[in-house]
Amino acid sequence: MNEYDSARVAAFLEFNGWFPAAAAEKADMILVNTCSVRAKAEENAIARIRELRKLRVESGELRVGILGCMAKNRGESLRKDLPFIDFILGPDEYYKLPEIINSQLSTLNSQLELFAKLTNNYSAFVAIQSGCNMRCSYCIVPYVRGMERYREPESILKEIEAAAAQGVSEVVLLGQTVNGYRFKGLSFAGLLRQAADVKGIERIRFISPHPKHYTGELLEILMGEPKIAPHVHLPAQSGSNSILKKMKRQYTRENYLSIVEALRSWNPLYGITTDIICGYPGETEEEFEETLSLLREAQFDSAFMFAYSSREGTPSASEKELITKQEKKARLQKTIDLQSTITLERAKLMIGRTERILLEKPSRKNPNEWVGKTGNFKKVIVGATLAVAPTITGAYINCKISAVQGHTLRGTIND
Ligand code: 5AD
Ligand code: SF4
Repeated sequence: MNEYDSARVAAFLEFNGWFPAAAAEKADMILVNTCSVRAKAEENAIARIRELRKLRVESGELRVGILGCMAKNRGESLRKDLPFIDFILGPDEYYKLPEIINSQLSTLNSQLELFAKLTNNYSAFVAIQSGCNMRCSYCIVPYVRGMERYREPESILKEIEAAAAQGVSEVVLLGQTVNGYRFKGLSFAGLLRQAADVKGIERIRFISPHPKHYTGELLEILMGEPKIAPHVHLPAQSGSNSILKKMKRQYTRENYLSIVEALRSWNPLYGITTDIICGYPGETEEEFEETLSLLREAQFDSAFMFAYSSREGTPSASEKELITKQEKKARLQKTIDLQSTITLERAKLMIGRTERILLEKPSRKNPNEWVGKTGNFKKVIVGATLAVAPTITGAYINCKISAVQGHTLRGTIND
């Protein structure tokens, strides 16, 4: 969501005649988009912003603005630590940007909402929902991003059509609980169906769905519509029912596993990735073990794993943290180690298969190789022969997977 917001602000500025500076030293304005989800994210952001102090102080022209969730979460109090900053705008306040930058631009406010937001020329991120109505006990997002709002389907589809007309073939629908989308009579499944009908769109993804909103109707379209990529990022957070309850996640381990079972019995290679939090306040050794057993049972293709981070203002922040920092770290490490083995096993299942992959860009390490993604969201490095044609970004090719290196697949073109 933050990457999307950054792209949206950048697109808006470019639309109004600004262009990206070659280096921070050459910029007239530096905007830092920030995240608040864990304490570490805020610490990193503050450290990065602090690095700009010298530039800002030495230049009479440069303006530095802080955007995003930390801007909203900490507001004016940020000036205590970062007195040199010029302005602070939370996620719902970007419409004020033109006013701040140049009062003459203020009539263009509405463009910020309407502008097509392409992050690259093969894939478009399209936000369909903002905010979050869940109140997971540990999570700051609802407080910084507010209540759920859904975009009108007409505007979403127009944006997808515009992207497709520019040659984009993959669309990623975005929302904090994206599959909870609804607009008048239209459900998320209905919206997916309409998106799949857009000419030129060949692959549809969405992040992040919530397990609670996995309806039969949704499963039906996921399995029935070939344009929807066979991958889901489905945050589980914990494998323990008692912790899930404390987290107010609104599903049980069994509910969660029944979604996994439905998807994998339809397609054993269905990509399922997740988010896990280790060391929630009061998490016992047994409860933690249940998370490990969930990883084994669900056979996740990969996972983002985090140590619990107390966020001021959230309900769980008032729960006493009895688990020591070391123990939390140790649990996180155990989780990472186990998942790493599973990720590798899942990757190995791909060897020998011919996969349709979307070519994204030349590999950074070796320009004679290309990076692409399979439908089930695995990164593939494709060998040399394509290097001569830089225009193939966004092309789909058939690729025979030959090996696994680290957690990345390697393959060759199979015509
Ligand atoms: N502590 C640790 N991890 C968190 N996440 C959200 N809030 C916290 C927190 N307070 C994780 C969740 C979520 C992901 C985006 O960040 O796993 O899915
Ligand atoms: Fe946070 Fe829960 Fe909303 Fe996800 S669903 S953004 S974890 S409150």
